[in-house]
Amino acid sequence: MAVREILKMGDPRLLQVAQPVTAFDTPALHALVQDLQDTMLVANGAGLAAPQVGVDLQVVIFGSGRPNPRYPEADPVPYTILCNPVLTPLSPQEDIDWEGCLSVPGLRGKVPRFVHLRYQGFDLKGQAIDRTVSGFHARVVQHECDHLVGKLYPMRMRDFQDFGFTEVLFPHLGRT
Ligand code: NI
Repeated sequence: MAVREILKMGDPRLLQVAQPVTAFDTPALHALVQDLQDTMLVANGAGLAAPQVGVDLQVVIFGSGRPNPRYPEADPVPYTILCNPVLTPLSPQEDIDWEGCLSVPGLRGKVPRFVHLRYQGFDLKGQAIDRTVSGFHARVVQHECDHLVGKLYPMRMRDFQDFGFTEVLFPHLGRT
């Protein structure tokens, strides 16, 4: 188990476009995913992307299959390891809702995301993943995959009136 330090907004490594995974099922990739999992678990994250721990690879993990204490109202998302993702919005319909990010600690903002999404990619072993999802699941995938193209959620916001400290906006969540 290795909990890694999560880079915070302002670190230029969070603004890079990540490199694709070229070798699957390797000890190095297994170790990276284990570290991402351990780090996400300790932080109660809904997801985590490799660039957030300073690794320049197109790898994200998200979901747990259980409700997340940082997003208690949201439907559970299955635990997923996704490499080299390709996202395809299935309609122009957007939804605006609150997001947080472990690289932007203590804050929440309202972010527009596509409601209906197809995502494709590969798991840790290089097996293809191809899913059609909507709602919170689609939002989490868009948020995590944005980390692979150097985008943090404040860069997707349209109205900074909907931006603030979690402890003020959602006192029942505490300082998450
Ligand atoms: Ni994030």
